[in-house]
Amino acid sequence: MHLLRVAATPPRMSTSDTNSATPWRNFYGRLKGQSLNARQEQDLKELLPQICLENVSREDNPERSLLDVEAIRQGRPLWLEVGFGSGEHIVHQAKSNPDVLIIGCEIYVNGVASLLGKIRREGVSNIVIHPGDARDLLDVLPDNSLDKMFLLYPDPWPKARHHRRRFVTPEHLEPLAKKLKSGHEFRVATDIVDYVRQTLEEVPPAGFTLTESPDDLSVAWPDWFSTRYEQKALREGRSPHYMTFFKT
Ligand SMILES: C[S@@+](CC[C@H](N)C(=O)[O-])C[C@H]1O[C@@H](n2cnc3c(N)ncnc32)[C@H](O)[C@@H]1O
Repeated sequence: MHLLRVAATPPRMSTSDTNSATPWRNFYGRLKGQSLNARQEQDLKELLPQICLENVSREDNPERSLLDVEAIRQGRPLWLEVGFGSGEHIVHQAKSNPDVLIIGCEIYVNGVASLLGKIRREGVSNIVIHPGDARDLLDVLPDNSLDKMFLLYPDPWPKARHHRRRFVTPEHLEPLAKKLKSGHEFRVATDIVDYVRQTLEEVPPAGFTLTESPDDLSVAWPDWFSTRYEQKALREGRSPHYMTFFKT
């Protein structure tokens, strides 16, 4: 398998701050769940360093210098999937679009290990990983560097007092909007009706336009690949909503 070598040293999966130029941010989700098997440990040790974006974390890049995106993309369109979970969708997109480079970002180490297993088994060579907080990646990506972005089943944070932790808040959306090129696509999927409400309220003011009628969000994208989280939502009787925005 041919792998893009973008990192020379093993990444550190940490959200702690050192002397960074950006403020420390809380992360409220899970970082680690069930223990990893030996193969996953090996993938994290051997495969991840080969396809890990270097100089993203605050520890590795405390000055928050911008990444050399042209060296990374090597002439290819660059897509980003935030919170790829177990990696089903990103692998599907990477296989369907071999001329695109996709950055996958995930803070949950078990998810990173799952994606690495898929990459290894399926021989995918056009994914690079930031195994950490998407906000750290957004700090160091140059503006107008992304050609497409996916936010698929972001953590729902169902309690009203936690809604400000959702990804569709200005804290995340404003930097996200700056990184996407004008006229390019931002896809959001969720099974939570109140998350749809918040997405439709908060995404457009950040610089996006919804492409479909808000009354008709049940049709999946033609190139959609149902994720693990979506399968769980369907089993539990919740309906998917698919929202497509363009950067204005
Ligand atoms: C509900 S899961 C959905 C996973 C996957 N997209 C799917 O559809 O199966 C949300 C994922 O987003 C990840 N996540 C949440 N906040 C994140 C952040 N700030 N940076 C990177 N990943 C994040 C979580 O660890 C979790 O795996």
